[in-house]
Amino acid sequence: MKTEILDNQKITNAAEKKNLIVANWKCNPSTLEEAKLLASLFKKEALKLKKTEIVLCPPFVFIQGLNGSGNLNLGAQNCFWEEGGAYTGEVSPLMLKNLNCQYIILGHSERRRLLNETDEMINRKIEAVISAGLKVILCAEKASQAEKCLKGISNLENVILAFEPLSAIGTGNPYPLEKAKKVCLEMKKSVKKEINVLYGGSVNPVNAKDYIEKACFEGLLVGGASLEVKAFSAILNSVEAAI
Ligand code: PGA
Repeated sequence: MKTEILDNQKITNAAEKKNLIVANWKCNPSTLEEAKLLASLFKKEALKLKKTEIVLCPPFVFIQGLNGSGNLNLGAQNCFWEEGGAYTGEVSPLMLKNLNCQYIILGHSERRRLLNETDEMINRKIEAVISAGLKVILCAEKASQAEKCLKGISNLENVILAFEPLSAIGTGNPYPLEKAKKVCLEMKKSVKKEINVLYGGSVNPVNAKDYIEKACFEGLLVGGASLEVKAFSAILNSVEAAI
C-alpha cells in the first residue's frame, strides 16, 4: 500500500518536476579549457531538454570560469559550514552562491572514506547550505545515514537525496534495480514522502532510464560517464525519453 502511494506521488509530480541529472566531475579535468569545452557541449545538449535539468558540478577552481543557462545549472562538490573566517583551505556556501552555484553535493562517500567526513560534519554543512539559500544534494548509502545527517533540520524543501551504494560507485557494477527501488522508497518513507531521490553508481546510457522508469528515482548522479560527451549525451536523451 505504501509503495502504491509513493508511486502515485511520483506520477503526480512527474508533470511538474524535471528529472535531475547531476554531473559530478570529481577531481577532473585538469585544465579550465577542458572544463569549458565540456560545459559548452553539455549546454548545447541542455537546449534540447524539456523534462530534464542538468546540474554541472566541476571542481571549485573551474566554477568561476563556467556559467549556467536554461536547463543547465551549476553546483559544487562540497563546501564548509562557516560563511568565512580563519579556515585554511575551505570554501563557504556564500562564496559558491556568489559564483552562481545553485546546488551543493554533500556527504559523498569518497569524502567520508578518504577525508574522514562524519555525519555530524555533514549535518553542519547541510544547515549552512540551506541558510545560504542553496540546494543540498545529500549522498547516503542507506536511509538511516540520511536521517543522521539531517538530524534537527526541519526545512527539507531544498534537500535532495542521492542513494549511492558503495558497491556501485566507480566500479562498473550498477546496483540491482529492484533493490535500489526498495532503498529509494525507504528513504522517502523515513525522511519525507515527497523528497526527491537520485540514484548514483555506475550510471551509463544503458541503465539510466531504468532507474527513472522502473524504480522511484527522480534523477541520477553521474560520475565517470559525465566526463564523456557521448555517454553523457546518451544518458540525457534516454532520461528525457523516460515516462
Ligand atoms: P560513477 O560515480 O558514476 O563513476 O560510479 C558515481 C558517484 O560517485 O556518485
